[in-house]
Amino acid sequence: QHTSSSPPQVDSKPMPASTFTRKVTVLYGSETGTARLLSEMMAEKLDAANFMVTLLALDDFKTSKLKKTGDLLIITATHGEGDPPNNAISFYEFLHSRKAPKLDQLRFSVLSLGDTSYEFFCQTGKDLDKRLEELGGERLYERVDCDLDFDEQANLWMDGVLDVLTHSSDAVDHHARLDQKQDGMVAAEQAVFSRTNPFMAEVIENITLSGRGSQKQTHHLELSLEGSDFTFKPGDSIGIYPKNDPKLVEQLLTELTWDADQSLAVNKQGEIRSLREALLSHFEITVLTIPMLEKAERLFANSALSDFIKAGNKETLLAYIKGRDVLDLVTDFPPEKLEPEEFVSMLRKLPARLYSIASSYKANPDEVHLTIGKVHYVTHGRERFGVCSGQVSTRLEIGDKLPIYIQKNPNFQFPNDPQTPVIMIGPGTGVAPFRSYLEELEETKEKQRTWLFFGEQHFLYDFLYQVDWQKWLKTGVLSRMDVAFSRDTDQKVYVQHKMLEKSNEFYNWLKAGAAVYVCGDEKHMAKDVHQTLVTILKQEGDMSEEKAESYLQQMRLEKRYQRDVY
Ligand code: 2AM
Repeated sequence: QHTSSSPPQVDSKPMPASTFTRKVTVLYGSETGTARLLSEMMAEKLDAANFMVTLLALDDFKTSKLKKTGDLLIITATHGEGDPPNNAISFYEFLHSRKAPKLDQLRFSVLSLGDTSYEFFCQTGKDLDKRLEELGGERLYERVDCDLDFDEQANLWMDGVLDVLTHSSDAVDHHARLDQKQDGMVAAEQAVFSRTNPFMAEVIENITLSGRGSQKQTHHLELSLEGSDFTFKPGDSIGIYPKNDPKLVEQLLTELTWDADQSLAVNKQGEIRSLREALLSHFEITVLTIPMLEKAERLFANSALSDFIKAGNKETLLAYIKGRDVLDLVTDFPPEKLEPEEFVSMLRKLPARLYSIASSYKANPDEVHLTIGKVHYVTHGRERFGVCSGQVSTRLEIGDKLPIYIQKNPNFQFPNDPQTPVIMIGPGTGVAPFRSYLEELEETKEKQRTWLFFGEQHFLYDFLYQVDWQKWLKTGVLSRMDVAFSRDTDQKVYVQHKMLEKSNEFYNWLKAGAAVYVCGDEKHMAKDVHQTLVTILKQEGDMSEEKAESYLQQMRLEKRYQRDVY
């Protein structure tokens, strides 16, 4: 019997010959690492139930094997405007292409992760699910679409799938079941900190990196990891469970004329908190979603809200929720009757916020540094703050504690081979993982060719971590650096302009096998940088547009083009 309780990390796991086993393939499409985490959990459950599990990113799976894959489970996130995550693009395109084979031998089920505040909620999961069926696959368990607070739904799907698989399998082995139980007990004894059991990290430093005169407020936060047993690599992220703004919570309670000290259950396990604490720490109150509007319509007994929702189509509802929060909703459509329990039942659990780590574990194992840009704007007549960045920038002091966990990022890992040159493109807070990587190179004394592109608004106020880069340029940890300060000149200068200026050398680095990392704004920067990579390949490599795109796609598959964009 195998008694391992760790998730199978390898392609496939050999099983003892005496036990008849069934194969299950678990594939994930993961942008921030959550889908991968869930597929590891699923693989672990299957492994414990004596299935032979193959666990891979969708793009690492050989599509030629698809026809012979018996049972396929897909766990996938959706990215941006309904796009597949970076490590699922090839698979997605293959499945939707003419090359896709008939799959009448295949049984499958899809778990999709998404965010109901986005228009194309769970689109990638929906598309794959539909396409697998079109190709002749048999859905062994209904697809489940999860919102940001995915735990409950994801567990239901996992247990449901496992149930179907074990009941249609001859391979259930009672000893394996027993081992699984014992493993579970061992695991429970060694309390490990994780997303569901966060570590309370003490704030040891919280300073503003932006100088006086800057239009931004970018914070450098240092947290103590002492006692956490956390380890991490450059590219990994920290999840922080933030607290809502107490002022916003008070406004909401006043608007609803509720007693803040009354208690209520904050989850299905029946944990009790005061209403104030529930709204501060447990539920999201700064984002509206269409499912929330629909629930509010049923609960508020407000006829104007009913009329609005019945008359509205998706566009008008999306237009309403944009930039508005729960306080707007109860102000615009005051509930006729509403109990606090009902109110929180329509809210999502407050999800953790992910930040790329800006320090090296090898250099500073007992602490972690983060670079956090304050989100602050005015819409619909009211000042608004990002939940976590608002907390960090206005009400987080040294000695305070934050619930955190480490989120490994499968899509942003630096090369193991010191021969691989590394090009890093990280304007704004996107520079964080590159500080982590360079600090690590300094610590390990690994020699590697490195090139950093950084951009911000003003040289004088916004040159984040200037002293660090200068030190590393001097010591040779950083081979080259190009900076683009966009608001110091009449014409805007961005990182991609600097890339283009150096297009010849850039192309030579690519030919020498360089890996390219892009971190930061997705909507504008990452798109423009991608387009610039295409231009450089066309210009310097004499490629057609199509050829350049497929060159980049090949780089992506070889993990030589990785992005952490948000
Ligand atoms: P801006 O604010 O002057 O527009 C970090 O935020 C830096 O990224 C800023 O200098 C910002 O310039 C710049 N930036 C804005 N849009 C960008 C884009 N599409 N591509 C690259 N950089 C961009």
